Amino acid sequence: MAVYIGSAVSRIDGIAKVTGAAKYAAEFNVPGLLYGSVVTATIAKGRIARMDRGAAKRMKGVIDVLTHEHRPEMVDNDQAYKDFLAPDGSPFRPLYDEKIRFNGQPIALVVAETSETARIAASLVWVEYEQEEHVTDLFNRREAAIPIKPAADSADASFGPPKTRGSPEQALAAAGVRHEAEYYVPIEHHNPMELFATTVIYEADGKLTVYDKTQGVQNVQGYLCGALALKPEDVRVMSPFMGGGFGSGLRPQYQLVLAALAALALKRSVRVVVTRPQMYELGYRPAMIQHIALGANAAGMLDVITHDAITVTSRYEGFYRQETGWSGLLYRSANASYKHSLVHLDLPTPCDMRAPSAATGVFALESAMDELAVALNLDPVELRLRCYSDHDQHTGHPYSSKALKECYLQGAEAFGWAMRDSKPCSMRDGGDLIGWGMATGIWEALQFTISVRIALTANGHAEVACATSDIGTGTYTIMAQVTADMLGLPLDNISVKIGDSSLPQSPVEGGSWIATSVANGIATTADAIRDDLLRLARSIPNSPLANAARDDVVLVDGKLASKRDPLLFVSIADAMRQGGVDRIVQEKTTEPAQDHSRAHNTHSAVFAEVKVDEQLGVIRVTRVVSAVAAGRILNTKTATSQILGGVVWGIGMALQEETLIDHRFGRIMNANIAEYHVPVNADVHDIKVIFVDEPDDSNRLGMKGLGEIGIVGVAAAIANAVFHATGKRVRDLPIALDKLRR
Ligand code: MOS
Repeated sequence: MAVYIGSAVSRIDGIAKVTGAAKYAAEFNVPGLLYGSVVTATIAKGRIARMDRGAAKRMKGVIDVLTHEHRPEMVDNDQAYKDFLAPDGSPFRPLYDEKIRFNGQPIALVVAETSETARIAASLVWVEYEQEEHVTDLFNRREAAIPIKPAADSADASFGPPKTRGSPEQALAAAGVRHEAEYYVPIEHHNPMELFATTVIYEADGKLTVYDKTQGVQNVQGYLCGALALKPEDVRVMSPFMGGGFGSGLRPQYQLVLAALAALALKRSVRVVVTRPQMYELGYRPAMIQHIALGANAAGMLDVITHDAITVTSRYEGFYRQETGWSGLLYRSANASYKHSLVHLDLPTPCDMRAPSAATGVFALESAMDELAVALNLDPVELRLRCYSDHDQHTGHPYSSKALKECYLQGAEAFGWAMRDSKPCSMRDGGDLIGWGMATGIWEALQFTISVRIALTANGHAEVACATSDIGTGTYTIMAQVTADMLGLPLDNISVKIGDSSLPQSPVEGGSWIATSVANGIATTADAIRDDLLRLARSIPNSPLANAARDDVVLVDGKLASKRDPLLFVSIADAMRQGGVDRIVQEKTTEPAQDHSRAHNTHSAVFAEVKVDEQLGVIRVTRVVSAVAAGRILNTKTATSQILGGVVWGIGMALQEETLIDHRFGRIMNANIAEYHVPVNADVHDIKVIFVDEPDDSNRLGMKGLGEIGIVGVAAAIANAVFHATGKRVRDLPIALDKLRR
């Protein structure tokens, strides 16, 4: 049955992507298309006192300049602007009023016949501000952080930190060995290759076809209808390809609203592409201060964990993700407490960024565990094995599966961990100090309700359709693989339609939940197709399947065949001919299994080698082994790529990435990829990815999803390796070389 599932199928959209045939949001053209250029605020807080559009409007080729005073009507209530993922608060409304909430806020859109004209004219829009005092520095507002109430129900991580277990204060006071420290992660940005862009096609009947860079076409459609009071049947949103999102495209971005407003105002088609610097005002991974205290006995058994976090959000929304609770899933500890506070700053609202809360929370936790291992004089892997938890301590539930021990063992073996001399500064290669560090990774295994339509034609071709997106993770490919196997057809006979709001309902693509959701959705729908075929096959006179029941047959090689006797079969073509149909269409909705009595997580063990130039402090990550337990792997090639990408990102997080704000102006200083450093090829050396076996029965296909697990733990493994190499513990990211000298 599984011909394609589990194998290393190359991306079915690969050729379209490398030849340029795959079109992105800013590449859909129509005659008479207009181009918008965004004018942004140059102060962080205050209001627009006066604007002069005159010079811009007088420029040849400029059609109009939209501002909060000159634009079509927008709805005036917060609820209308709440997309599926809106946090508590009052969502930002682009071009709504004169109020300035952050430096870089869009305040005007110049629309012209060419993008060049629009961009020059945008520089001619004259603005007079009334400034107010702003605060953009987390450390200045630390004392004003507002605590979030603990979750009433510990099973739900979205509403607050987990509840206290036992008596953490007493346990900490009584602990034989203690480690306590503060860890810092700066603001980081996603930096996808594709700029945020929207092309709104103004159709002859006044309807809008919107090509938008987004991870959720139906989220965007709902948002646009809410904010601009449009009817769903008048707005179709498409996002067939995406040049990277990593969470930045989960919520609608402002260029969408601006393009739609301009199209409605001018009754013309309009495209708005933001610039690279403007990308930095669209959301970010929030900066955070984390405080961790661990207490253990001399045998290396944890008795207490306290984890407190202070994270950044905007003035208008309370963006919160649960940084603090991951230890309760990873390590056994009778006593624990978790606190989380938000600091409201004059910045845009943060947004999800690859493994939100885990990439950062686990950096602090796994750095702290390494420090505890040093204090205990215990091997870091051994410490984790001694503290291994076989259940989720927040809920008391066992895991549906947790092959983390195998990750530790297989990862350590592949890395050669047994050769490690535990003393810092003890291993070297010429002028380089060598460090070996490790850390654990964890993420959620989620599944959501999804609808899938399959149309099977008599010639054995199938089209599978769902409104989900492929954000670069390989969704097109795995959908084709699963459909091909479920229908017993060659992969080339499958076509995949996604990224269109008019297709069957899908959640946004994020959180590593789409592969599991859509693959199981395909399986359900394929069953319905098979049932239809069986009905037709049985009605053939003297049918070889006359007595076959639903569970007796399987679709294989273009035929419906008896499982017991493969010689008993009816071809798809014959079954359809018998019924006088040339296609069968089924659309089914699949709910996730209501398996709330077990915990569902993916895990990893990351081992890293660094070489640190003893003289200069330059750090290179020369080897990484990432051993991942994520249930059934649908495609070993695209899955490996996901983990490789996560590891590369972890190298950036550990050593390079940091968004810098000039707090005098509340403005980001390194809003470009030249000065915001991410790893380049020269920074990436040997990375090995291992998938350990992890049978899981939480869903029909035994899947868990694995987009995000790749980055989790990597920064800590590298920080721990740097300590091992140099004896220097750096707790504030990134580990720039000057920090090794202080
Ligand atoms: Mo990802 S942060 O779930 O798009």
